[in-house]
Amino acid sequence: MAKRENFKSRAGFVLACIGAAVGLGNIWMFPYRLGQNGGAAFLIPYFIFVLLLGSTGLITEFAFGRKFKAGSMAGIRNVFDEKKKSGGLLVGLIPVVGLAGVFMFYNIVVGWILKYFSMSVSGELFSVDVNSFFDGFAGNSQSIIWNFIAIALTLIIVYMGVTKGIELINKIIMPLLFIIFILLAIRSLTLSGAIEGVKYLLNPKWEVLLKPNTWIMALGQAFFTVSLNGCGMVVYGSYMKKDFDIPRSALSTAILDTLAALLASFVIMPAVFAFKLNPMAGPPLLFITMPTIFREMPGGRIISIIFFLSILFAAISSSINMLEGPVEALMSQTRLNRKKASIIIASIGFILSIPLNLSMGAFDSFTNFITIIVSPTAALIVFIVFYYVYDSRKALEEINVGASRKLGVTFLNFAKYVFVFITVLVIILGIIYGGIG
Ligand code: TRP
Repeated sequence: MAKRENFKSRAGFVLACIGAAVGLGNIWMFPYRLGQNGGAAFLIPYFIFVLLLGSTGLITEFAFGRKFKAGSMAGIRNVFDEKKKSGGLLVGLIPVVGLAGVFMFYNIVVGWILKYFSMSVSGELFSVDVNSFFDGFAGNSQSIIWNFIAIALTLIIVYMGVTKGIELINKIIMPLLFIIFILLAIRSLTLSGAIEGVKYLLNPKWEVLLKPNTWIMALGQAFFTVSLNGCGMVVYGSYMKKDFDIPRSALSTAILDTLAALLASFVIMPAVFAFKLNPMAGPPLLFITMPTIFREMPGGRIISIIFFLSILFAAISSSINMLEGPVEALMSQTRLNRKKASIIIASIGFILSIPLNLSMGAFDSFTNFITIIVSPTAALIVFIVFYYVYDSRKALEEINVGASRKLGVTFLNFAKYVFVFITVLVIILGIIYGGIG
């Protein structure tokens, strides 16, 4: 068997994980939620959840991957076989299929971003009616070609492999992403009237902490933003060397992901308020509100190009992780090599996405099903398999290999009982609220 690929440096590994974590959740959900849920006050539940739950989730997924030197599919099958239990194949499929589902809907949005990037470059974005353009484009056959390009770009990187593709590209684009965000935040904050946006983000409304909704939204955001779904981070973990520090890498990922979300807030909200527009979440923010701002802002065209380019960096680095998960699973279960496996998964993903390109209703239902039910369930599966079916002591040993500060039973109890309980809660609340992530 060919030697398992790996990340060459800890920095490369952490940057790839940050790349997987920082994505549309940071850009089109977080700034809005921060403002809507009490400004700076929202940061309290959010920090608690990201730092405690996000890190715990990441630590577990990384360690699971490294322990079995496998993605969740092969890892879960391995544990089931060892314990002489049947059903490993079926259980192992859930995280993989779930991540493939995320890959599908996510790349439709990456396609929209590519289209807007290209329209910024050509200048077309400045001549169309931005309000009606998006409605005519998304959910329509026109978006298919852009979806195809998005998937093709992701495929090229995954096809190149862990070191020459994934690690290399993340080492280049993630630092660039942070630099661009800082520059854009400075531009946004120096617009006249930007201070209203700063107030929206930072004016703490402490009373929101008494509302359960605030805590629930912070919880959902924390889960989605660090990409917990029992597959993508497991796969990256499986390419980690023994001397990498798992708890520290997890914490760095959670912290830098939060930093990216805060920076994105200071790029977007000051500009939105300076131009007296409505703060919003989701597609209208990126595809209607921001283009409206760029049209009116001096130097708007160049800023628009840089803005959509940075969003592309954030989204593609996540998409790479979403493709790598199923590709690794296919390689582990067959004799296919990386090149063939990546082409097969990307092609199937593209073909199955066609109906989602054609109907926004189908797109929404599919996205909700995957993010509300499948992803948290898959995260839960990996936790249960690792700590309950396999062996929580051995799991802890693996977590501590290479760690500068060793974790103890307190962590283990937290992971086994609190985290698992909260994950079940995430699923239930997601169903009740129609989505919290
Ligand atoms: N964390 C990414 C974001 O904030 C989204 C993401 C990437 C994700 N991989 C995932 C979400 C896996 C759920 C599961 O946009």
